[in-house]
Amino acid sequence: MTGFEHRTQRLILRDWQDEDWEPFWRHLNTPTVSRFLGGVADAAYRARTRERLLRYSHEYGHTFWIVQRIDDGGHLSGEILGWCGLKRCNEPNGPVGDFEAGWRLREDAWGKGYAKEAASASIDLAFRQFGAPHVIALTVEGNKQSWGLMERLGMERRPDMDFADSASWAKGETLIVYRIDREEWAARGAVRPRSRMDG
Ligand SMILES: CC(C)(COP(=O)(O)OP(=O)(O)OC[C@H]1O[C@@H](n2cnc3c(N)ncnc32)[C@H](O)[C@@H]1OP(=O)(O)O)[C@@H](O)C(=O)NCCC(=O)NCCS
Repeated sequence: MTGFEHRTQRLILRDWQDEDWEPFWRHLNTPTVSRFLGGVADAAYRARTRERLLRYSHEYGHTFWIVQRIDDGGHLSGEILGWCGLKRCNEPNGPVGDFEAGWRLREDAWGKGYAKEAASASIDLAFRQFGAPHVIALTVEGNKQSWGLMERLGMERRPDMDFADSASWAKGETLIVYRIDREEWAARGAVRPRSRMDG
């Protein structure tokens, strides 16, 4: 396999391959998973999503990577759990260009700490590998599971940075912003040294 690949204790975050998209949408394109994301995605939305995630990877070297489970022996079990990773904020009213962490897991993978494990690795990579000065995350007030994760990661709620979404999944709604700076992440002891597993 070529391209980006990063392993955590239970997961692999890696670049997308053509064959990932069918199982990804089969498991994740549900009313429950997409409740705060504009609802079940039609074919046009799915195609745009694929195009932009591949473009981020190409332009920045990072994207919302595919997240796959690895078994206790470190082998791929094949189960695609969702996506998690880093983009650059491109919301017209938002902090354009900031490193932005994002996550979306299939429902049967919730409540197991997988999102926190993948998100924590992504933020760590933002600081250690991609030189981010800070990382933001965006959601809507109703998405308690998502902002709860931001709080569990040690991110700070920043009402002063909230903005009205004009272009994406929460059109017309207020996007609430959480942020963590490099120093705060380091102070939490979360930045670890480079390992040979890093992609
Ligand atoms: C947002 C989302 C990724 C959060 O997933 P999650 O599974 O709730 O998040 P975590 O990985 O932090 O798991 C937390 C729970 O796992 C539990 N857990 C179990 N084993 C664990 C472990 N080994 N380590 C850590 N937590 C563990 C925690 O106690 C916690 O339970 P609680 O919620 O009852 O307190 C998920 O809800 C999702 O995909 N939503 C739909 C898509 C979406 O809206 N994305 C966000 C767009 S802004």
